[in-house]
Amino acid sequence: MSPESSAAPDAIGSLSGIAIVGTGSALPKRRVTNTDLESVMDTSDEWIAQRTGIRSRHIHDPEAGESTASLATLAGQHALKAAGMAADQLDLIVCGTMTPDMPTPGIANLLTASLGTRTIAAFDLNAACSGFVYAMNTAHALMTTAPYRNALVLGVDCVTRFCEFSTLGRTSAILFGDAGGACVLSATEDPSKGLIAQAMHSDGCGAQHLYIPTDKHMFLNAEDYDERKINRIVMHGSNIFKFAVSTFPKLIGQTLDKANLTPDDVDHYICHQSNARILSTARDRFNIPEDKFYINIDRFGNTVGASIPLILDQETRSGRIKPGDRVMFLAFGAGLTWASSLWRV
Ligand SMILES: CC(C)(COP(=O)(O)OP(=O)(O)OC[C@H]1O[C@@H](n2cnc3c(N)ncnc32)[C@H](O)[C@@H]1OP(=O)(O)O)[C@@H](O)C(=O)NCCC(=O)NCCS
Repeated sequence: MSPESSAAPDAIGSLSGIAIVGTGSALPKRRVTNTDLESVMDTSDEWIAQRTGIRSRHIHDPEAGESTASLATLAGQHALKAAGMAADQLDLIVCGTMTPDMPTPGIANLLTASLGTRTIAAFDLNAACSGFVYAMNTAHALMTTAPYRNALVLGVDCVTRFCEFSTLGRTSAILFGDAGGACVLSATEDPSKGLIAQAMHSDGCGAQHLYIPTDKHMFLNAEDYDERKINRIVMHGSNIFKFAVSTFPKLIGQTLDKANLTPDDVDHYICHQSNARILSTARDRFNIPEDKFYINIDRFGNTVGASIPLILDQETRSGRIKPGDRVMFLAFGAGLTWASSLWRV
C-alpha cells in the first residue's frame, strides 16, 4: 500500500455525473439444494419452493477459506477488472454487510489490504438486507461532496453462520444463502449518469421481528427466549412478510414520485430477493413486465446485502442492462430498514 499523499485526488471539479463502470460478484462453491436440507431438518423441497420460490442456495465453507472478506475480495476484484481500473485508483470503499467476519476490523478496511489500495476512506455500514442500497446512496453523497472520484460499493454477507440447520431453525434457515456483489462508481463528465432519486428508512419499533441475539440478555421478545437460539436468527416470518408486501409497492411509488417518473420509465427493477411471493406482489401492483423485474431467488436464496449487486452483475454482464438505462434498486430488511436508489447508468 502506498502512502496517502502519493495520489490523493483533487476536487471532482467539472465531473458532474457518476457512472457505474464495473460490476462483480462471488459465490461460495458449495451449492445446497432443498433436497439436501431434507436430510438435516424436517422440511421438503415442495414446502420451501411453494412458500418462497427457493430451490437452492450457496453456503460458505470456512474450512475452505470462504468468508465474508474472501467473497468481498473476489467480488471487488471482478468489479475492478470489469471497470478496467487498478485498486490504487480507488478513493473510497463502502461495504454494506451485517455479517463481518469479526466485530473489528470491518470488511471494507480489510479490502484496502486484500485489493491493494492506497490508505483511503473505507468503512462498513449495517442496514441488514438494505445494506447495498444504503451503501450506494452513501457513496454517491460522499462523491458529490468530497473529492472522491472512484468508489467501490459492495453488498456482502455470509449470513448462514447465524442459521440453525436443524428443525429448530427451519423457518429461517431454508431462506438464506451467502454471496458477495460489488460495483465501481466513477465520476464522469456526463451529467446524465448517476443517482436520480433515493429513499432511506429505518424503524426500530420493528426490530423484534428479525434479529440475532448474541447472548441470553439480548432476546427482544420474552417468548423467543431459548438458549439454543443464541447467535441464531430469530424471525417472525409472517410479520416480516406483511411488512414487505406493503412496503415494496409504497417504496416504488415514493421513488417514482420523487423522480417524477412513471413505472414504464424505469428499465430495470432490481429488488432484494427475500421471497418470490413478496416480489411478484410488488411487480403485479405496478403491472411491471417480468423481463424488467428480476427474480433469481430460486438459485441463490436470500443473500442479504448481496442479492441486489449479484443481479446487477449478472444483468450487466448479460448485456440486458445497457448504458443510458434507468435502474431502480429496492430493498427491505431487519431493523426494520427499507431503501431505494434510482440510477441512470
Ligand atoms: C418464512 C416464511 C416462508 C414462512 O411461511 P409461512 O406461511 O408464514 O409459514 P409459518 O411460519 O406460518 O408456518 C406454517 C407451518 O409450516 C411449518 N414450517 C415452518 N418452516 C418449515 C419448513 N422449513 N418446512 C416445513 N414446514 C415448515 C411451521 O412449523 C408451521 O406449521 P404448523 O402450522 O403446524 O404450526 C414466510 O413467513 C416468509 O417468507 N416471511 C418473510 C421472511 C423474510 O423475507 N425474511 C427476510 C427478510 S429480509
